[in-house]
Amino acid sequence: MHGPAEPAVTLRVLTPQDAAVIAGWASDPQFCREAEWTPGQAAYEYERFQRRLIETPPKDLIRLGVVSEGHLVGYVDLHGADPDRRELGFVIGLRNLWGHGLGLGAAAAGLHHGFVELGLQEIWAEAYEANRRSTRILRRLGLRETGFGDIGEFLGAPTRYVQFAIRADEWRHQGSHSAFHPH
Ligand SMILES: CC(C)(COP(=O)(O)OP(=O)(O)OC[C@H]1O[C@@H](n2cnc3c(N)ncnc32)[C@H](O)[C@@H]1OP(=O)(O)O)[C@@H](O)C(=O)NCCC(=O)NCCS
Repeated sequence: MHGPAEPAVTLRVLTPQDAAVIAGWASDPQFCREAEWTPGQAAYEYERFQRRLIETPPKDLIRLGVVSEGHLVGYVDLHGADPDRRELGFVIGLRNLWGHGLGLGAAAAGLHHGFVELGLQEIWAEAYEANRRSTRILRRLGLRETGFGDIGEFLGAPTRYVQFAIRADEWRHQGSHSAFHPH
């Protein structure tokens, strides 16, 4: 099966040991604001929460670790109970790693996993309009804007969710026309 070029990151199954790494990302309050994580909890609480998610994930959540240069740098989610259609989410955990293409690579790898490994027919996503990094990534990967979701707040300013989607056939036929060039 053909699709856009292979992403620059790899995905792997998370293990309980990863909970401490993921929980560590919460020690940056600005990361919590941007990722919409509950701020101000004790480190052990974040870790316990993450460990539980890894050991006993909700039935409708597939979460995979994003690995770059041998390190766990983020995760991608494919979420939802529909056998043909799931929602993509992605996080890069350390802000000093942002802006180097890891988010794009993670989201691309998530699409690849969803369409190739899971055989999904459609993947959708939503991001706050004000979350420019995220909407930029989704557009670059060829997702179509499909409408608006809920109103909310991003970094203290009112905004709304923009929703996106891409079908498996659209994804496969992007080929060299894709805006995604990993290198
Ligand atoms: C969104 C997120 C994954 C992006 O990670 P990243 O590694 O910085 O992503 P990339 O480097 O691949 O791409 C970021 C893009 O945003 C652009 N960008 C960066 N800062 C920006 C800003 N202030 N305004 C507009 N665009 C900006 C970059 O130029 C880049 O686009 P380009 O490659 O076309 O130049 C990361 O910020 C994150 O984890 N945020 C918290 C969680 C989240 O918002 N997840 C998405 C919701 S589904």
